[in-house]
Amino acid sequence: MSRVVGRRIIFRDVVGSTMDEVAALAAAGEAEGIVVVAEQQTAGRGRADRIWETPHGSAVLASILLRPLVPPERLGLLSLVAGVAVAEVIEQATGVVPALKWPNDVWIDGRKVAGILVTSRLDQSGGITAILGIGLNVNTTPAELAPGATSLAVATGRPHERAVLLAMLLDRLDRAYATFVEVRGCPDLSGWSRRAALVGDLVTVTDGERTRAGTLLGIDHTGALLLAEPDGTTARIVAGELTRGPALIPVCSRQSAVSSQQ
Ligand code: BTN
Repeated sequence: MSRVVGRRIIFRDVVGSTMDEVAALAAAGEAEGIVVVAEQQTAGRGRADRIWETPHGSAVLASILLRPLVPPERLGLLSLVAGVAVAEVIEQATGVVPALKWPNDVWIDGRKVAGILVTSRLDQSGGITAILGIGLNVNTTPAELAPGATSLAVATGRPHERAVLLAMLLDRLDRAYATFVEVRGCPDLSGWSRRAALVGDLVTVTDGERTRAGTLLGIDHTGALLLAEPDGTTARIVAGELTRGPALIPVCSRQSAVSSQQ
């Protein structure tokens, strides 16, 4: 089968966001598989509109245009598939075994080394245009890293060749994407589950206005998070922000007034 992901790669120095560069190519009718890679972004972004900033030439920053022929409701699984691909490449290139934090983070030693962002839109005939963005901290130094983040250089104590990592990543993603489309968006998630971070730990999941605490059980076949709640029920959560540790329970002001008098 001919190559899709990385069939054409555009290398840029500084851009706003590679997501926007690919969105413009998509709007102009570009075929799937094209990749925009940048040395630096001035308006790089992550999930929930968070800022994604990396020093010039330190990271792999790439966005890929995809037009997957899968049911739209299965598109969310693409980011899990991409997470496995990123983790496998890191392991193959460095020997370090990363973990995957639901839904889209790649961790080394409990710190984020890579993030994945998927945006999508449906056209009038039901076709999907998706943009898969990947940011991988490669040679970022400790002083340059955001709190809670790490890089491959920090984790391994040596620099890594970004071009080699990019080539490995596009190869791996090309195979993973072909399979994803072949199985109509119902991938085998055992590779994700094997690497899942925080399973068995007390966690908090914030989903819009709702915050739930419980023990992380893992994910189901649709990629939803399974959380064992204190009342014995299992919550199935399709979107949200997962953090380590139990939620902080707000103190009841009346009770605390009474106890402070005792
Ligand atoms: C996240 O962890 O929230 C996702 C981060 C995704 C960052 C990448 S870097 C390349 C691409 N361009 C962006 O603006 N974002 C993604």
